[in-house]
Amino acid sequence: MNLILLGMPGAGKGTQADFIKNKFHIPTISTGAILREVSNSNSLLAKKVRGFLDAGTLVPDEIIVEMLVQRLKEDDCKNGFILDGFPRNLDQAKALENAGIVINNVVFLKISESEIISRMSGRRVHLPSGRSYHIVHNPPKNEGRDDETGEELVLRDDDKPEVIKKRLEVYFQETEPLLDFFINSEIIFDEVDASKNVEDVSNEIFKILT
Ligand code: AP5
Repeated sequence: MNLILLGMPGAGKGTQADFIKNKFHIPTISTGAILREVSNSNSLLAKKVRGFLDAGTLVPDEIIVEMLVQRLKEDDCKNGFILDGFPRNLDQAKALENAGIVINNVVFLKISESEIISRMSGRRVHLPSGRSYHIVHNPPKNEGRDDETGEELVLRDDDKPEVIKKRLEVYFQETEPLLDFFINSEIIFDEVDASKNVEDVSNEIFKILT
């Protein structure tokens, strides 16, 4: 199963990717998590990448596409993978095709803009894995701690209101056109009502994927 999760920032892609990963035993590849790791490293790229993340704009394709394609060639992706945050624009979708990477399913998590703000303001993340929680809707077992590692959860720097606004603008301009691209492709495309609670959304996704 080679799956793409599409949706607005905060729609619940990362949350659902985790459920799918655990059920189907395939890895989640989150470009946001990869880029946050780069931005926190001592590499030459770190400062450059951090600038885009903090501004809420997309990191240029020449930085992310090759990284992603190489990641998908690793052994753990042999039996499938979940793409969370990629592709983000038409050129990235075409780059997947050009690299010979076949996608079987696209699941679009549909939600309104007004829901997004409350979701992001209550979000807490485990930066190394990209696992995300919500203080009310999806709390960790122990407050402020990641369920799997027990490590500290933090607020993401790009969850400030002004950056959220920019990320939504970028979504409408660059990512939303992907909906038509996939609807008109051979790939199986499904839409899920992502405003439901976490469990209902994952049950709906499981129904689609099984
Ligand atoms: P990225 O990390 O991909 O962020 P995003 O797409 O903006 O999505 P989010 O991670 O914010 O949200 P999500 O949909 O995963 O929601 P979550 O499950 O956490 O990208 C960050 C940045 O990296 C970009 O701005 C860009 O700069 C760069 N980048 C990344 N990929 C790139 C690419 N391909 N090309 C170029 N640049 C790239 O849920 C949100 C909250 O809601 C959580 O608190 C969660 O617990 C809660 N929640 C989830 N589901 C529900 C539910 N059903 N009910 C109630 N609460 C829920």
